[in-house]
Amino acid sequence: MSHSDVQSQILEAFNFRHATKVFDPERKISESTFNTLLETARLSPSSFGMEPWQLLVVQNPEKRELLREFTWGANGATNGSEGQLRTASHYGIFLVHTGMTMTHHSDYIQNHLKNVKQLPDEVVDAYGGFYQKFQEHDFHIEGDRQISDWAARQAYIALGNMMTVAAMMGIDSCPIEGFEMDKTIAVLEEHFGVDPKRYQPAVQIAFGYRAGEPPHPKTRRSMDEVVRWVP
Ligand SMILES: Cc1cc2nc3c(=O)[nH]c(=O)nc-3n(C[C@H](O)[C@H](O)[C@H](O)COP(=O)(O)O)c2cc1C
Repeated sequence: MSHSDVQSQILEAFNFRHATKVFDPERKISESTFNTLLETARLSPSSFGMEPWQLLVVQNPEKRELLREFTWGANGATNGSEGQLRTASHYGIFLVHTGMTMTHHSDYIQNHLKNVKQLPDEVVDAYGGFYQKFQEHDFHIEGDRQISDWAARQAYIALGNMMTVAAMMGIDSCPIEGFEMDKTIAVLEEHFGVDPKRYQPAVQIAFGYRAGEPPHPKTRRSMDEVVRWVP
């Protein structure tokens, strides 16, 4: 395939993707296609390679319903439809790590460096030291909220990659920040077995096939506003 073919396919996918408000409830994404999307998330980069997130896939309609009341960005409240929660083929919640698991001496980090990244013991200590300096000195990432916000930034990379690849495969998606954080945390703890001390919800994501055409054409700032070339 020529370079210009690839360029036009990429731009086609970016123009195809829109924040889909309602999906065709009858059309399901095949298992192998969805696994490809999951793999793009798993292979996404993260700062220091710490992978500080987990995607909770919620396919059980009753479980989705537990979230619906306070998930105003996916319950059709803004457009009078059934919304993404009820119609999406696949629905995920990105959970992000907290201060408890993301400080350099935590079990999670130690296990991650040794057993996932497979660093030798002497490198684990040096790597942990760099990571600690980055958090405490360079970026001032202190306290639970800042740590989970930093973790969320890593999750959003995976989110973006999933949506792009979905669009390249003709699959629609919608990222969801329209939810009440406190109520979501409480339901996740009570009904989904998510320990809020270890994991906090950051963003949600719906995938499926659009039920109709996008409600409006894409609008964006001009390239001049978005990019400034330093002379
Ligand atoms: C992080 C994030 C959260 C979003 N949350 C919601 C949401 O809760 N509900 C919704 O319908 N759209 C949501 N959107 C979609 C945006 O409104 C949409 O991407 C933006 O208006 C641009 O439109 P387009 O994606 O169709 O090009 C969200 C987008 C992002 C990136």
